Amino acid sequence: MNSLFRRQAPSAADLDSFHNDGYIFYPDVLTDAAREALSAEIHQQQDVQCYLETLEDRPATERTSYFVRPWNNRGPVGHQLIDDPFVTALLKATIQNDYHFCHSALNLAPRGIGPISYHQDHHHWKHHNPVNLAERDGYYIQILYYPNGSARGDRNLKVIPGSHLVAPTEAATPERMLAGDYDQEAGRTLEEVRLDVPPGSMVYINARIFHGVEAKPVDSPQLYRIFNIDIFKEAGPPHRYTQEIPAEWLDDADAYRRQLFERDHYTDDCWTA
Ligand SMILES: [Fe+2]
Repeated sequence: MNSLFRRQAPSAADLDSFHNDGYIFYPDVLTDAAREALSAEIHQQQDVQCYLETLEDRPATERTSYFVRPWNNRGPVGHQLIDDPFVTALLKATIQNDYHFCHSALNLAPRGIGPISYHQDHHHWKHHNPVNLAERDGYYIQILYYPNGSARGDRNLKVIPGSHLVAPTEAATPERMLAGDYDQEAGRTLEEVRLDVPPGSMVYINARIFHGVEAKPVDSPQLYRIFNIDIFKEAGPPHRYTQEIPAEWLDDADAYRRQLFERDHYTDDCWTA
């Protein structure tokens, strides 16, 4: 399999960034061909075309994002993102235990859309079901892709590097972290980093770090920002969004890919059965 990426494997510095900062930023890491093909696959989707056709007719205040979860309508490049050699190398280097594919999403954010405030995505474990309390420390990895990029101040991702090192208590809010209240616990100064993301970038995140997204100005030079995400989790019970795997995804799947999908998906009673 020819990789979609310009990189073969994470460097030692990348892994340090993952463990110390809670994320790895790979600017412009998709090859030009992969970036263009991924974008074309997304634009070929009929529901995406329908969304975009009506987008400019609406006043900025009435625009909504396009969002689908799970994102099952993937083309060949979208599929390869799941088990591309570089993605597999990253997962194997960061998660020492068995892991599975959890779910995916696709999002288009138009001009005028508001921000997403700081949050953690392992917060789905942050409630009182005993199953989930037990799973809270397991790795939950989000791989974020930006086919057309997002400039700083224009729907950019922002993170608090090192915030994953703070115990996830109710008191440990992003506001208090940015005020310096948790610097000692984290062993570093916790401060905001606003990413400037060129087209074809990937951000590999431990979902325990606080992250958020800035608004997209009504006069943004970019009509809409494309974002797709794949999530992997340590082996264990289903996460709130662990998706059902379409049967055809197993056609021609090799042993590794099959193993990624061999887990239970979420159902309303999966934590109590
Ligand atoms: Fe998030």
